Amino acid sequence: MADGGASQLVGKSGGIVIPDDWPGYPLQLFSYPEHYSPEDLECVYIPHGIIMDRIERLACTIMDDLGDHDIVLLCVLKGGYQFCSDLVEFIKALNRTSEKSLPMRVAFIRLHSYLNDQSTEDLQIVGAEDLSTLRGKNILIVEGIVDTGKTMKALMKHIEVFQPKMVKVTGLLVKRIPSGMETLPDYVGFEIPNRFVVGYALDYNEYFRDLSHICVISDTGKKKYKI
Ligand code: IMP
Repeated sequence: MADGGASQLVGKSGGIVIPDDWPGYPLQLFSYPEHYSPEDLECVYIPHGIIMDRIERLACTIMDDLGDHDIVLLCVLKGGYQFCSDLVEFIKALNRTSEKSLPMRVAFIRLHSYLNDQSTEDLQIVGAEDLSTLRGKNILIVEGIVDTGKTMKALMKHIEVFQPKMVKVTGLLVKRIPSGMETLPDYVGFEIPNRFVVGYALDYNEYFRDLSHICVISDTGKKKYKI
């Protein structure tokens, strides 16, 4: 293959494929907060710098596709806050330097569906602004991670009520699982194997959001922070 096989790392979602056998990097090669112990985490799966480089590119693609439209970024809390914040910063930089511009508003919705590392049927919208402001708007849903896709499906249904002009979705991470989503997000950062990851605002029972890198939690970490 002319590119040495690198094209295999582009998934059908358009995201970077993290292969099933990717071991990650040993934790001690990176900095991480003292309050987590090395036994809590198996590895650094995606280092912070790579996350940022990928988001910069996603911002360019979003600008190319949606530039010159008004959009509302709908940030799915809590796991999507860091991604949303960094994406906004990159789009702001493009607004200053490129010919196109993308007027943005940001709205927030808070959903809750996980206990320990298991998705529950019980999807709750635990906090939302008055979403009627989304009526007739171009919406870009910003989600940290898409696993089974149940959350996204429920959210889309919830938003349809407000008859938006357009709805697009960006997911920083999408999990490759057998029963995965029928519809993939429009803009994907990385496609990852079915492992429970934390960091970069993703949590396990509210722990690890304050890690910069995306890491795989260990069995010891799961036991320690189980509720
Ligand atoms: P879905 O409804 O199964 O797609 O799950 C999506 C939600 O589950 C995300 O918004 C996260 O809150 C949570 N989630 C799924 N997988 C992970 C993970 O590996 N780490 C942290 N949170 C996760």
